[in-house]
Amino acid sequence: MAVIEVELAGRSYEVRVGEGLLADVAGQCGPLLRKHTVPIVTDANVAKHWRDPVDASLREAGHKPAWLILPPGEATKSWEILQQVVEWLLVQEVERGDHILALGGGVIGDLTGFAAAILKRGCGFIQLPTTLLAQVDSSVGGKTAINAATGKNLVGAFHQPSLVLADLATLDTLPPREMRCGYAEVIKYGILGDAGFFAWCETNGSRVLAGNREAQESAVTKSVEAKAAIVADDERETTGTRALLNLGHTFGHALEAQTGFSERLLHGEAVALGMVLAARYSARRELISEGDAARIAAAIAEAGLPSELSALGLNCSGEALAAHMLHDKKMDAGKLPFVLLRGIGAAFLDREVELVDVAAFLDQELA
Ligand SMILES: NC(=O)c1ccc[n+]([C@@H]2O[C@H](COP(=O)([O-])OP(=O)(O)OC[C@H]3O[C@@H](n4cnc5c(N)ncnc54)[C@H](O)[C@@H]3O)[C@@H](O)[C@H]2O)c1
Ligand SMILES: [Zn+2]
Repeated sequence: MAVIEVELAGRSYEVRVGEGLLADVAGQCGPLLRKHTVPIVTDANVAKHWRDPVDASLREAGHKPAWLILPPGEATKSWEILQQVVEWLLVQEVERGDHILALGGGVIGDLTGFAAAILKRGCGFIQLPTTLLAQVDSSVGGKTAINAATGKNLVGAFHQPSLVLADLATLDTLPPREMRCGYAEVIKYGILGDAGFFAWCETNGSRVLAGNREAQESAVTKSVEAKAAIVADDERETTGTRALLNLGHTFGHALEAQTGFSERLLHGEAVALGMVLAARYSARRELISEGDAARIAAAIAEAGLPSELSALGLNCSGEALAAHMLHDKKMDAGKLPFVLLRGIGAAFLDREVELVDVAAFLDQELA
């Protein structure tokens, strides 16, 4: 097992990465579970595979698990379901010093974390991430949210978990397409800040995706270390360091919007292609070489993720794609900060990008 400390003044916590953590969840959480009843929020897909070991571990330790099993999918991050979760937690008599367990992917983690943030003005929660994306990204760093009618993640809070248990065994039941989506965020850490890790991904990415446990442990540990360092440096995204995690996300968000946030293009796929576009746009601006941009595209294609905009068959203009960016929640006083590259492992935030230039670039990529 690897242990990574997320260092935040007065709110530091551990991320533990290893196999079999859920089967020992009571032991891992220890005194954080101070009451007989332990509330657990999950979704139906996750419950099918992972409810039993969690339930058994809690019962063996003398607890009574109380399960709230929600419908899977992004639509679960809604006002209605948030209300349902909060009311249910109140019925369970959860108090401020108690901990709620969030067992699932980013949807369950974001929703449960937000419910914990507002319940009695803030109670504790523990992340039990079961997707690769949640293990390397959403369970760490304390961003919690639900979606609003006008956009994703627009209603939320910063609320750090007290502990994160990333059980690698959960990756065995994850659909391969979801696994690849999470991998897009893994390789992101290499591209944005660690050329050595990017090179490691080039060699070992296929082992991670094929289920090699040792490679998975390295990939998750390295990613969490990267995210923990960034969060420790800029918890609330005020200095710009944390914004680097949006590499590929501005282009990706436009692609998700254009495809209607549908099964046609999942978030990780949009981010993967978005990182290729950020790299190629950086090459167009002569910030990196065409060779480095090609290397990034090759690593993404090798992982079975989309790397060519023209192959999506979008049937729209670069201008139409750029127009989606105007609605990005990162828009700041009329400017949209873009994460660009000065090299592999050297991302930076450019606040002066001209959207007309981005639109012209996208027209070329669409052709
Ligand atoms: N808070 C943050 O910092 C942050 C960062 C990135 C993404 N997010 C959010 O995370 C969400 C996406 O997370 P996700 O990709 O984990 O999606 P998800 O939670 O929807 O999970 C993906 C699918 O896999 C299923 N699943 C989960 N674990 C499984 C397992 N072990 N075996 C079988 N099936 C399993 C789920 O039921 C779901 O159908 C988005 O809402 C996004 O906004 C948050
Ligand atoms: Zn993302």
